[in-house]
Amino acid sequence: MDCFEVISQRRSVRNYRSDPVNDADIMKILEAGRMAPSAGNLQPCYFIVVRDPEVKSRLHQAALGQDLIAQAPVVIAVCVDPERSSHYGDAGRNYYSRLDAANATQNMLLAAFALGYGSCWVGGFKDSAVREVLGLPDAFRVVSLVPLGKAAENPSLPPRRPLEEIVRWDKW
Ligand SMILES: Cc1cc2nc3c(=O)[nH]c(=O)nc-3n(C[C@H](O)[C@H](O)[C@H](O)COP(=O)(O)O)c2cc1C
Repeated sequence: MDCFEVISQRRSVRNYRSDPVNDADIMKILEAGRMAPSAGNLQPCYFIVVRDPEVKSRLHQAALGQDLIAQAPVVIAVCVDPERSSHYGDAGRNYYSRLDAANATQNMLLAAFALGYGSCWVGGFKDSAVREVLGLPDAFRVVSLVPLGKAAENPSLPPRRPLEEIVRWDKW
């Protein structure tokens, strides 16, 4: 699959088979996250790989009971240390660091799909609850949860706005 096929065919998967995700593939997906661009190359991201069913069950609660978190064999929590981006002041701490985590998340979604796995960006969770479950240092933030596993569904493309509606050339 080339880059454009991966971008256009990836879908959010919310039903997973119980088959394990092998460690080599998890490492490739983490590597895709590591290679994402970051502001000033300050690399504020940390990835917590959750496979323990007990921890996943607690994350499921913290993620507002979204079943895909309990069902997926692996969940990667994408976290940031905002202080690593403090070279850019509050913009770095509060904004760039989260954009960097978004870049890493998208790279991992695409890598997962290219390797034959389903995944989904999960941003609906109670921040304090996820931080407690994962034992994160106080200053750290969780930006996304990424469930991973073999897809048990084949979702179709949710509608996208046409380019003619969202593109302007040269000025608004
Ligand atoms: C910031 C963000 C937060 C999201 N949070 C959730 C979520 O909590 N639960 C969920 O099922 N999907 C979540 N999604 C997935 C979107 O619903 C999905 O990407 C969108 O409907 C488009 O579908 P597609 O990913 O299949 O193209 C989130 C996506 C983004 C980018």
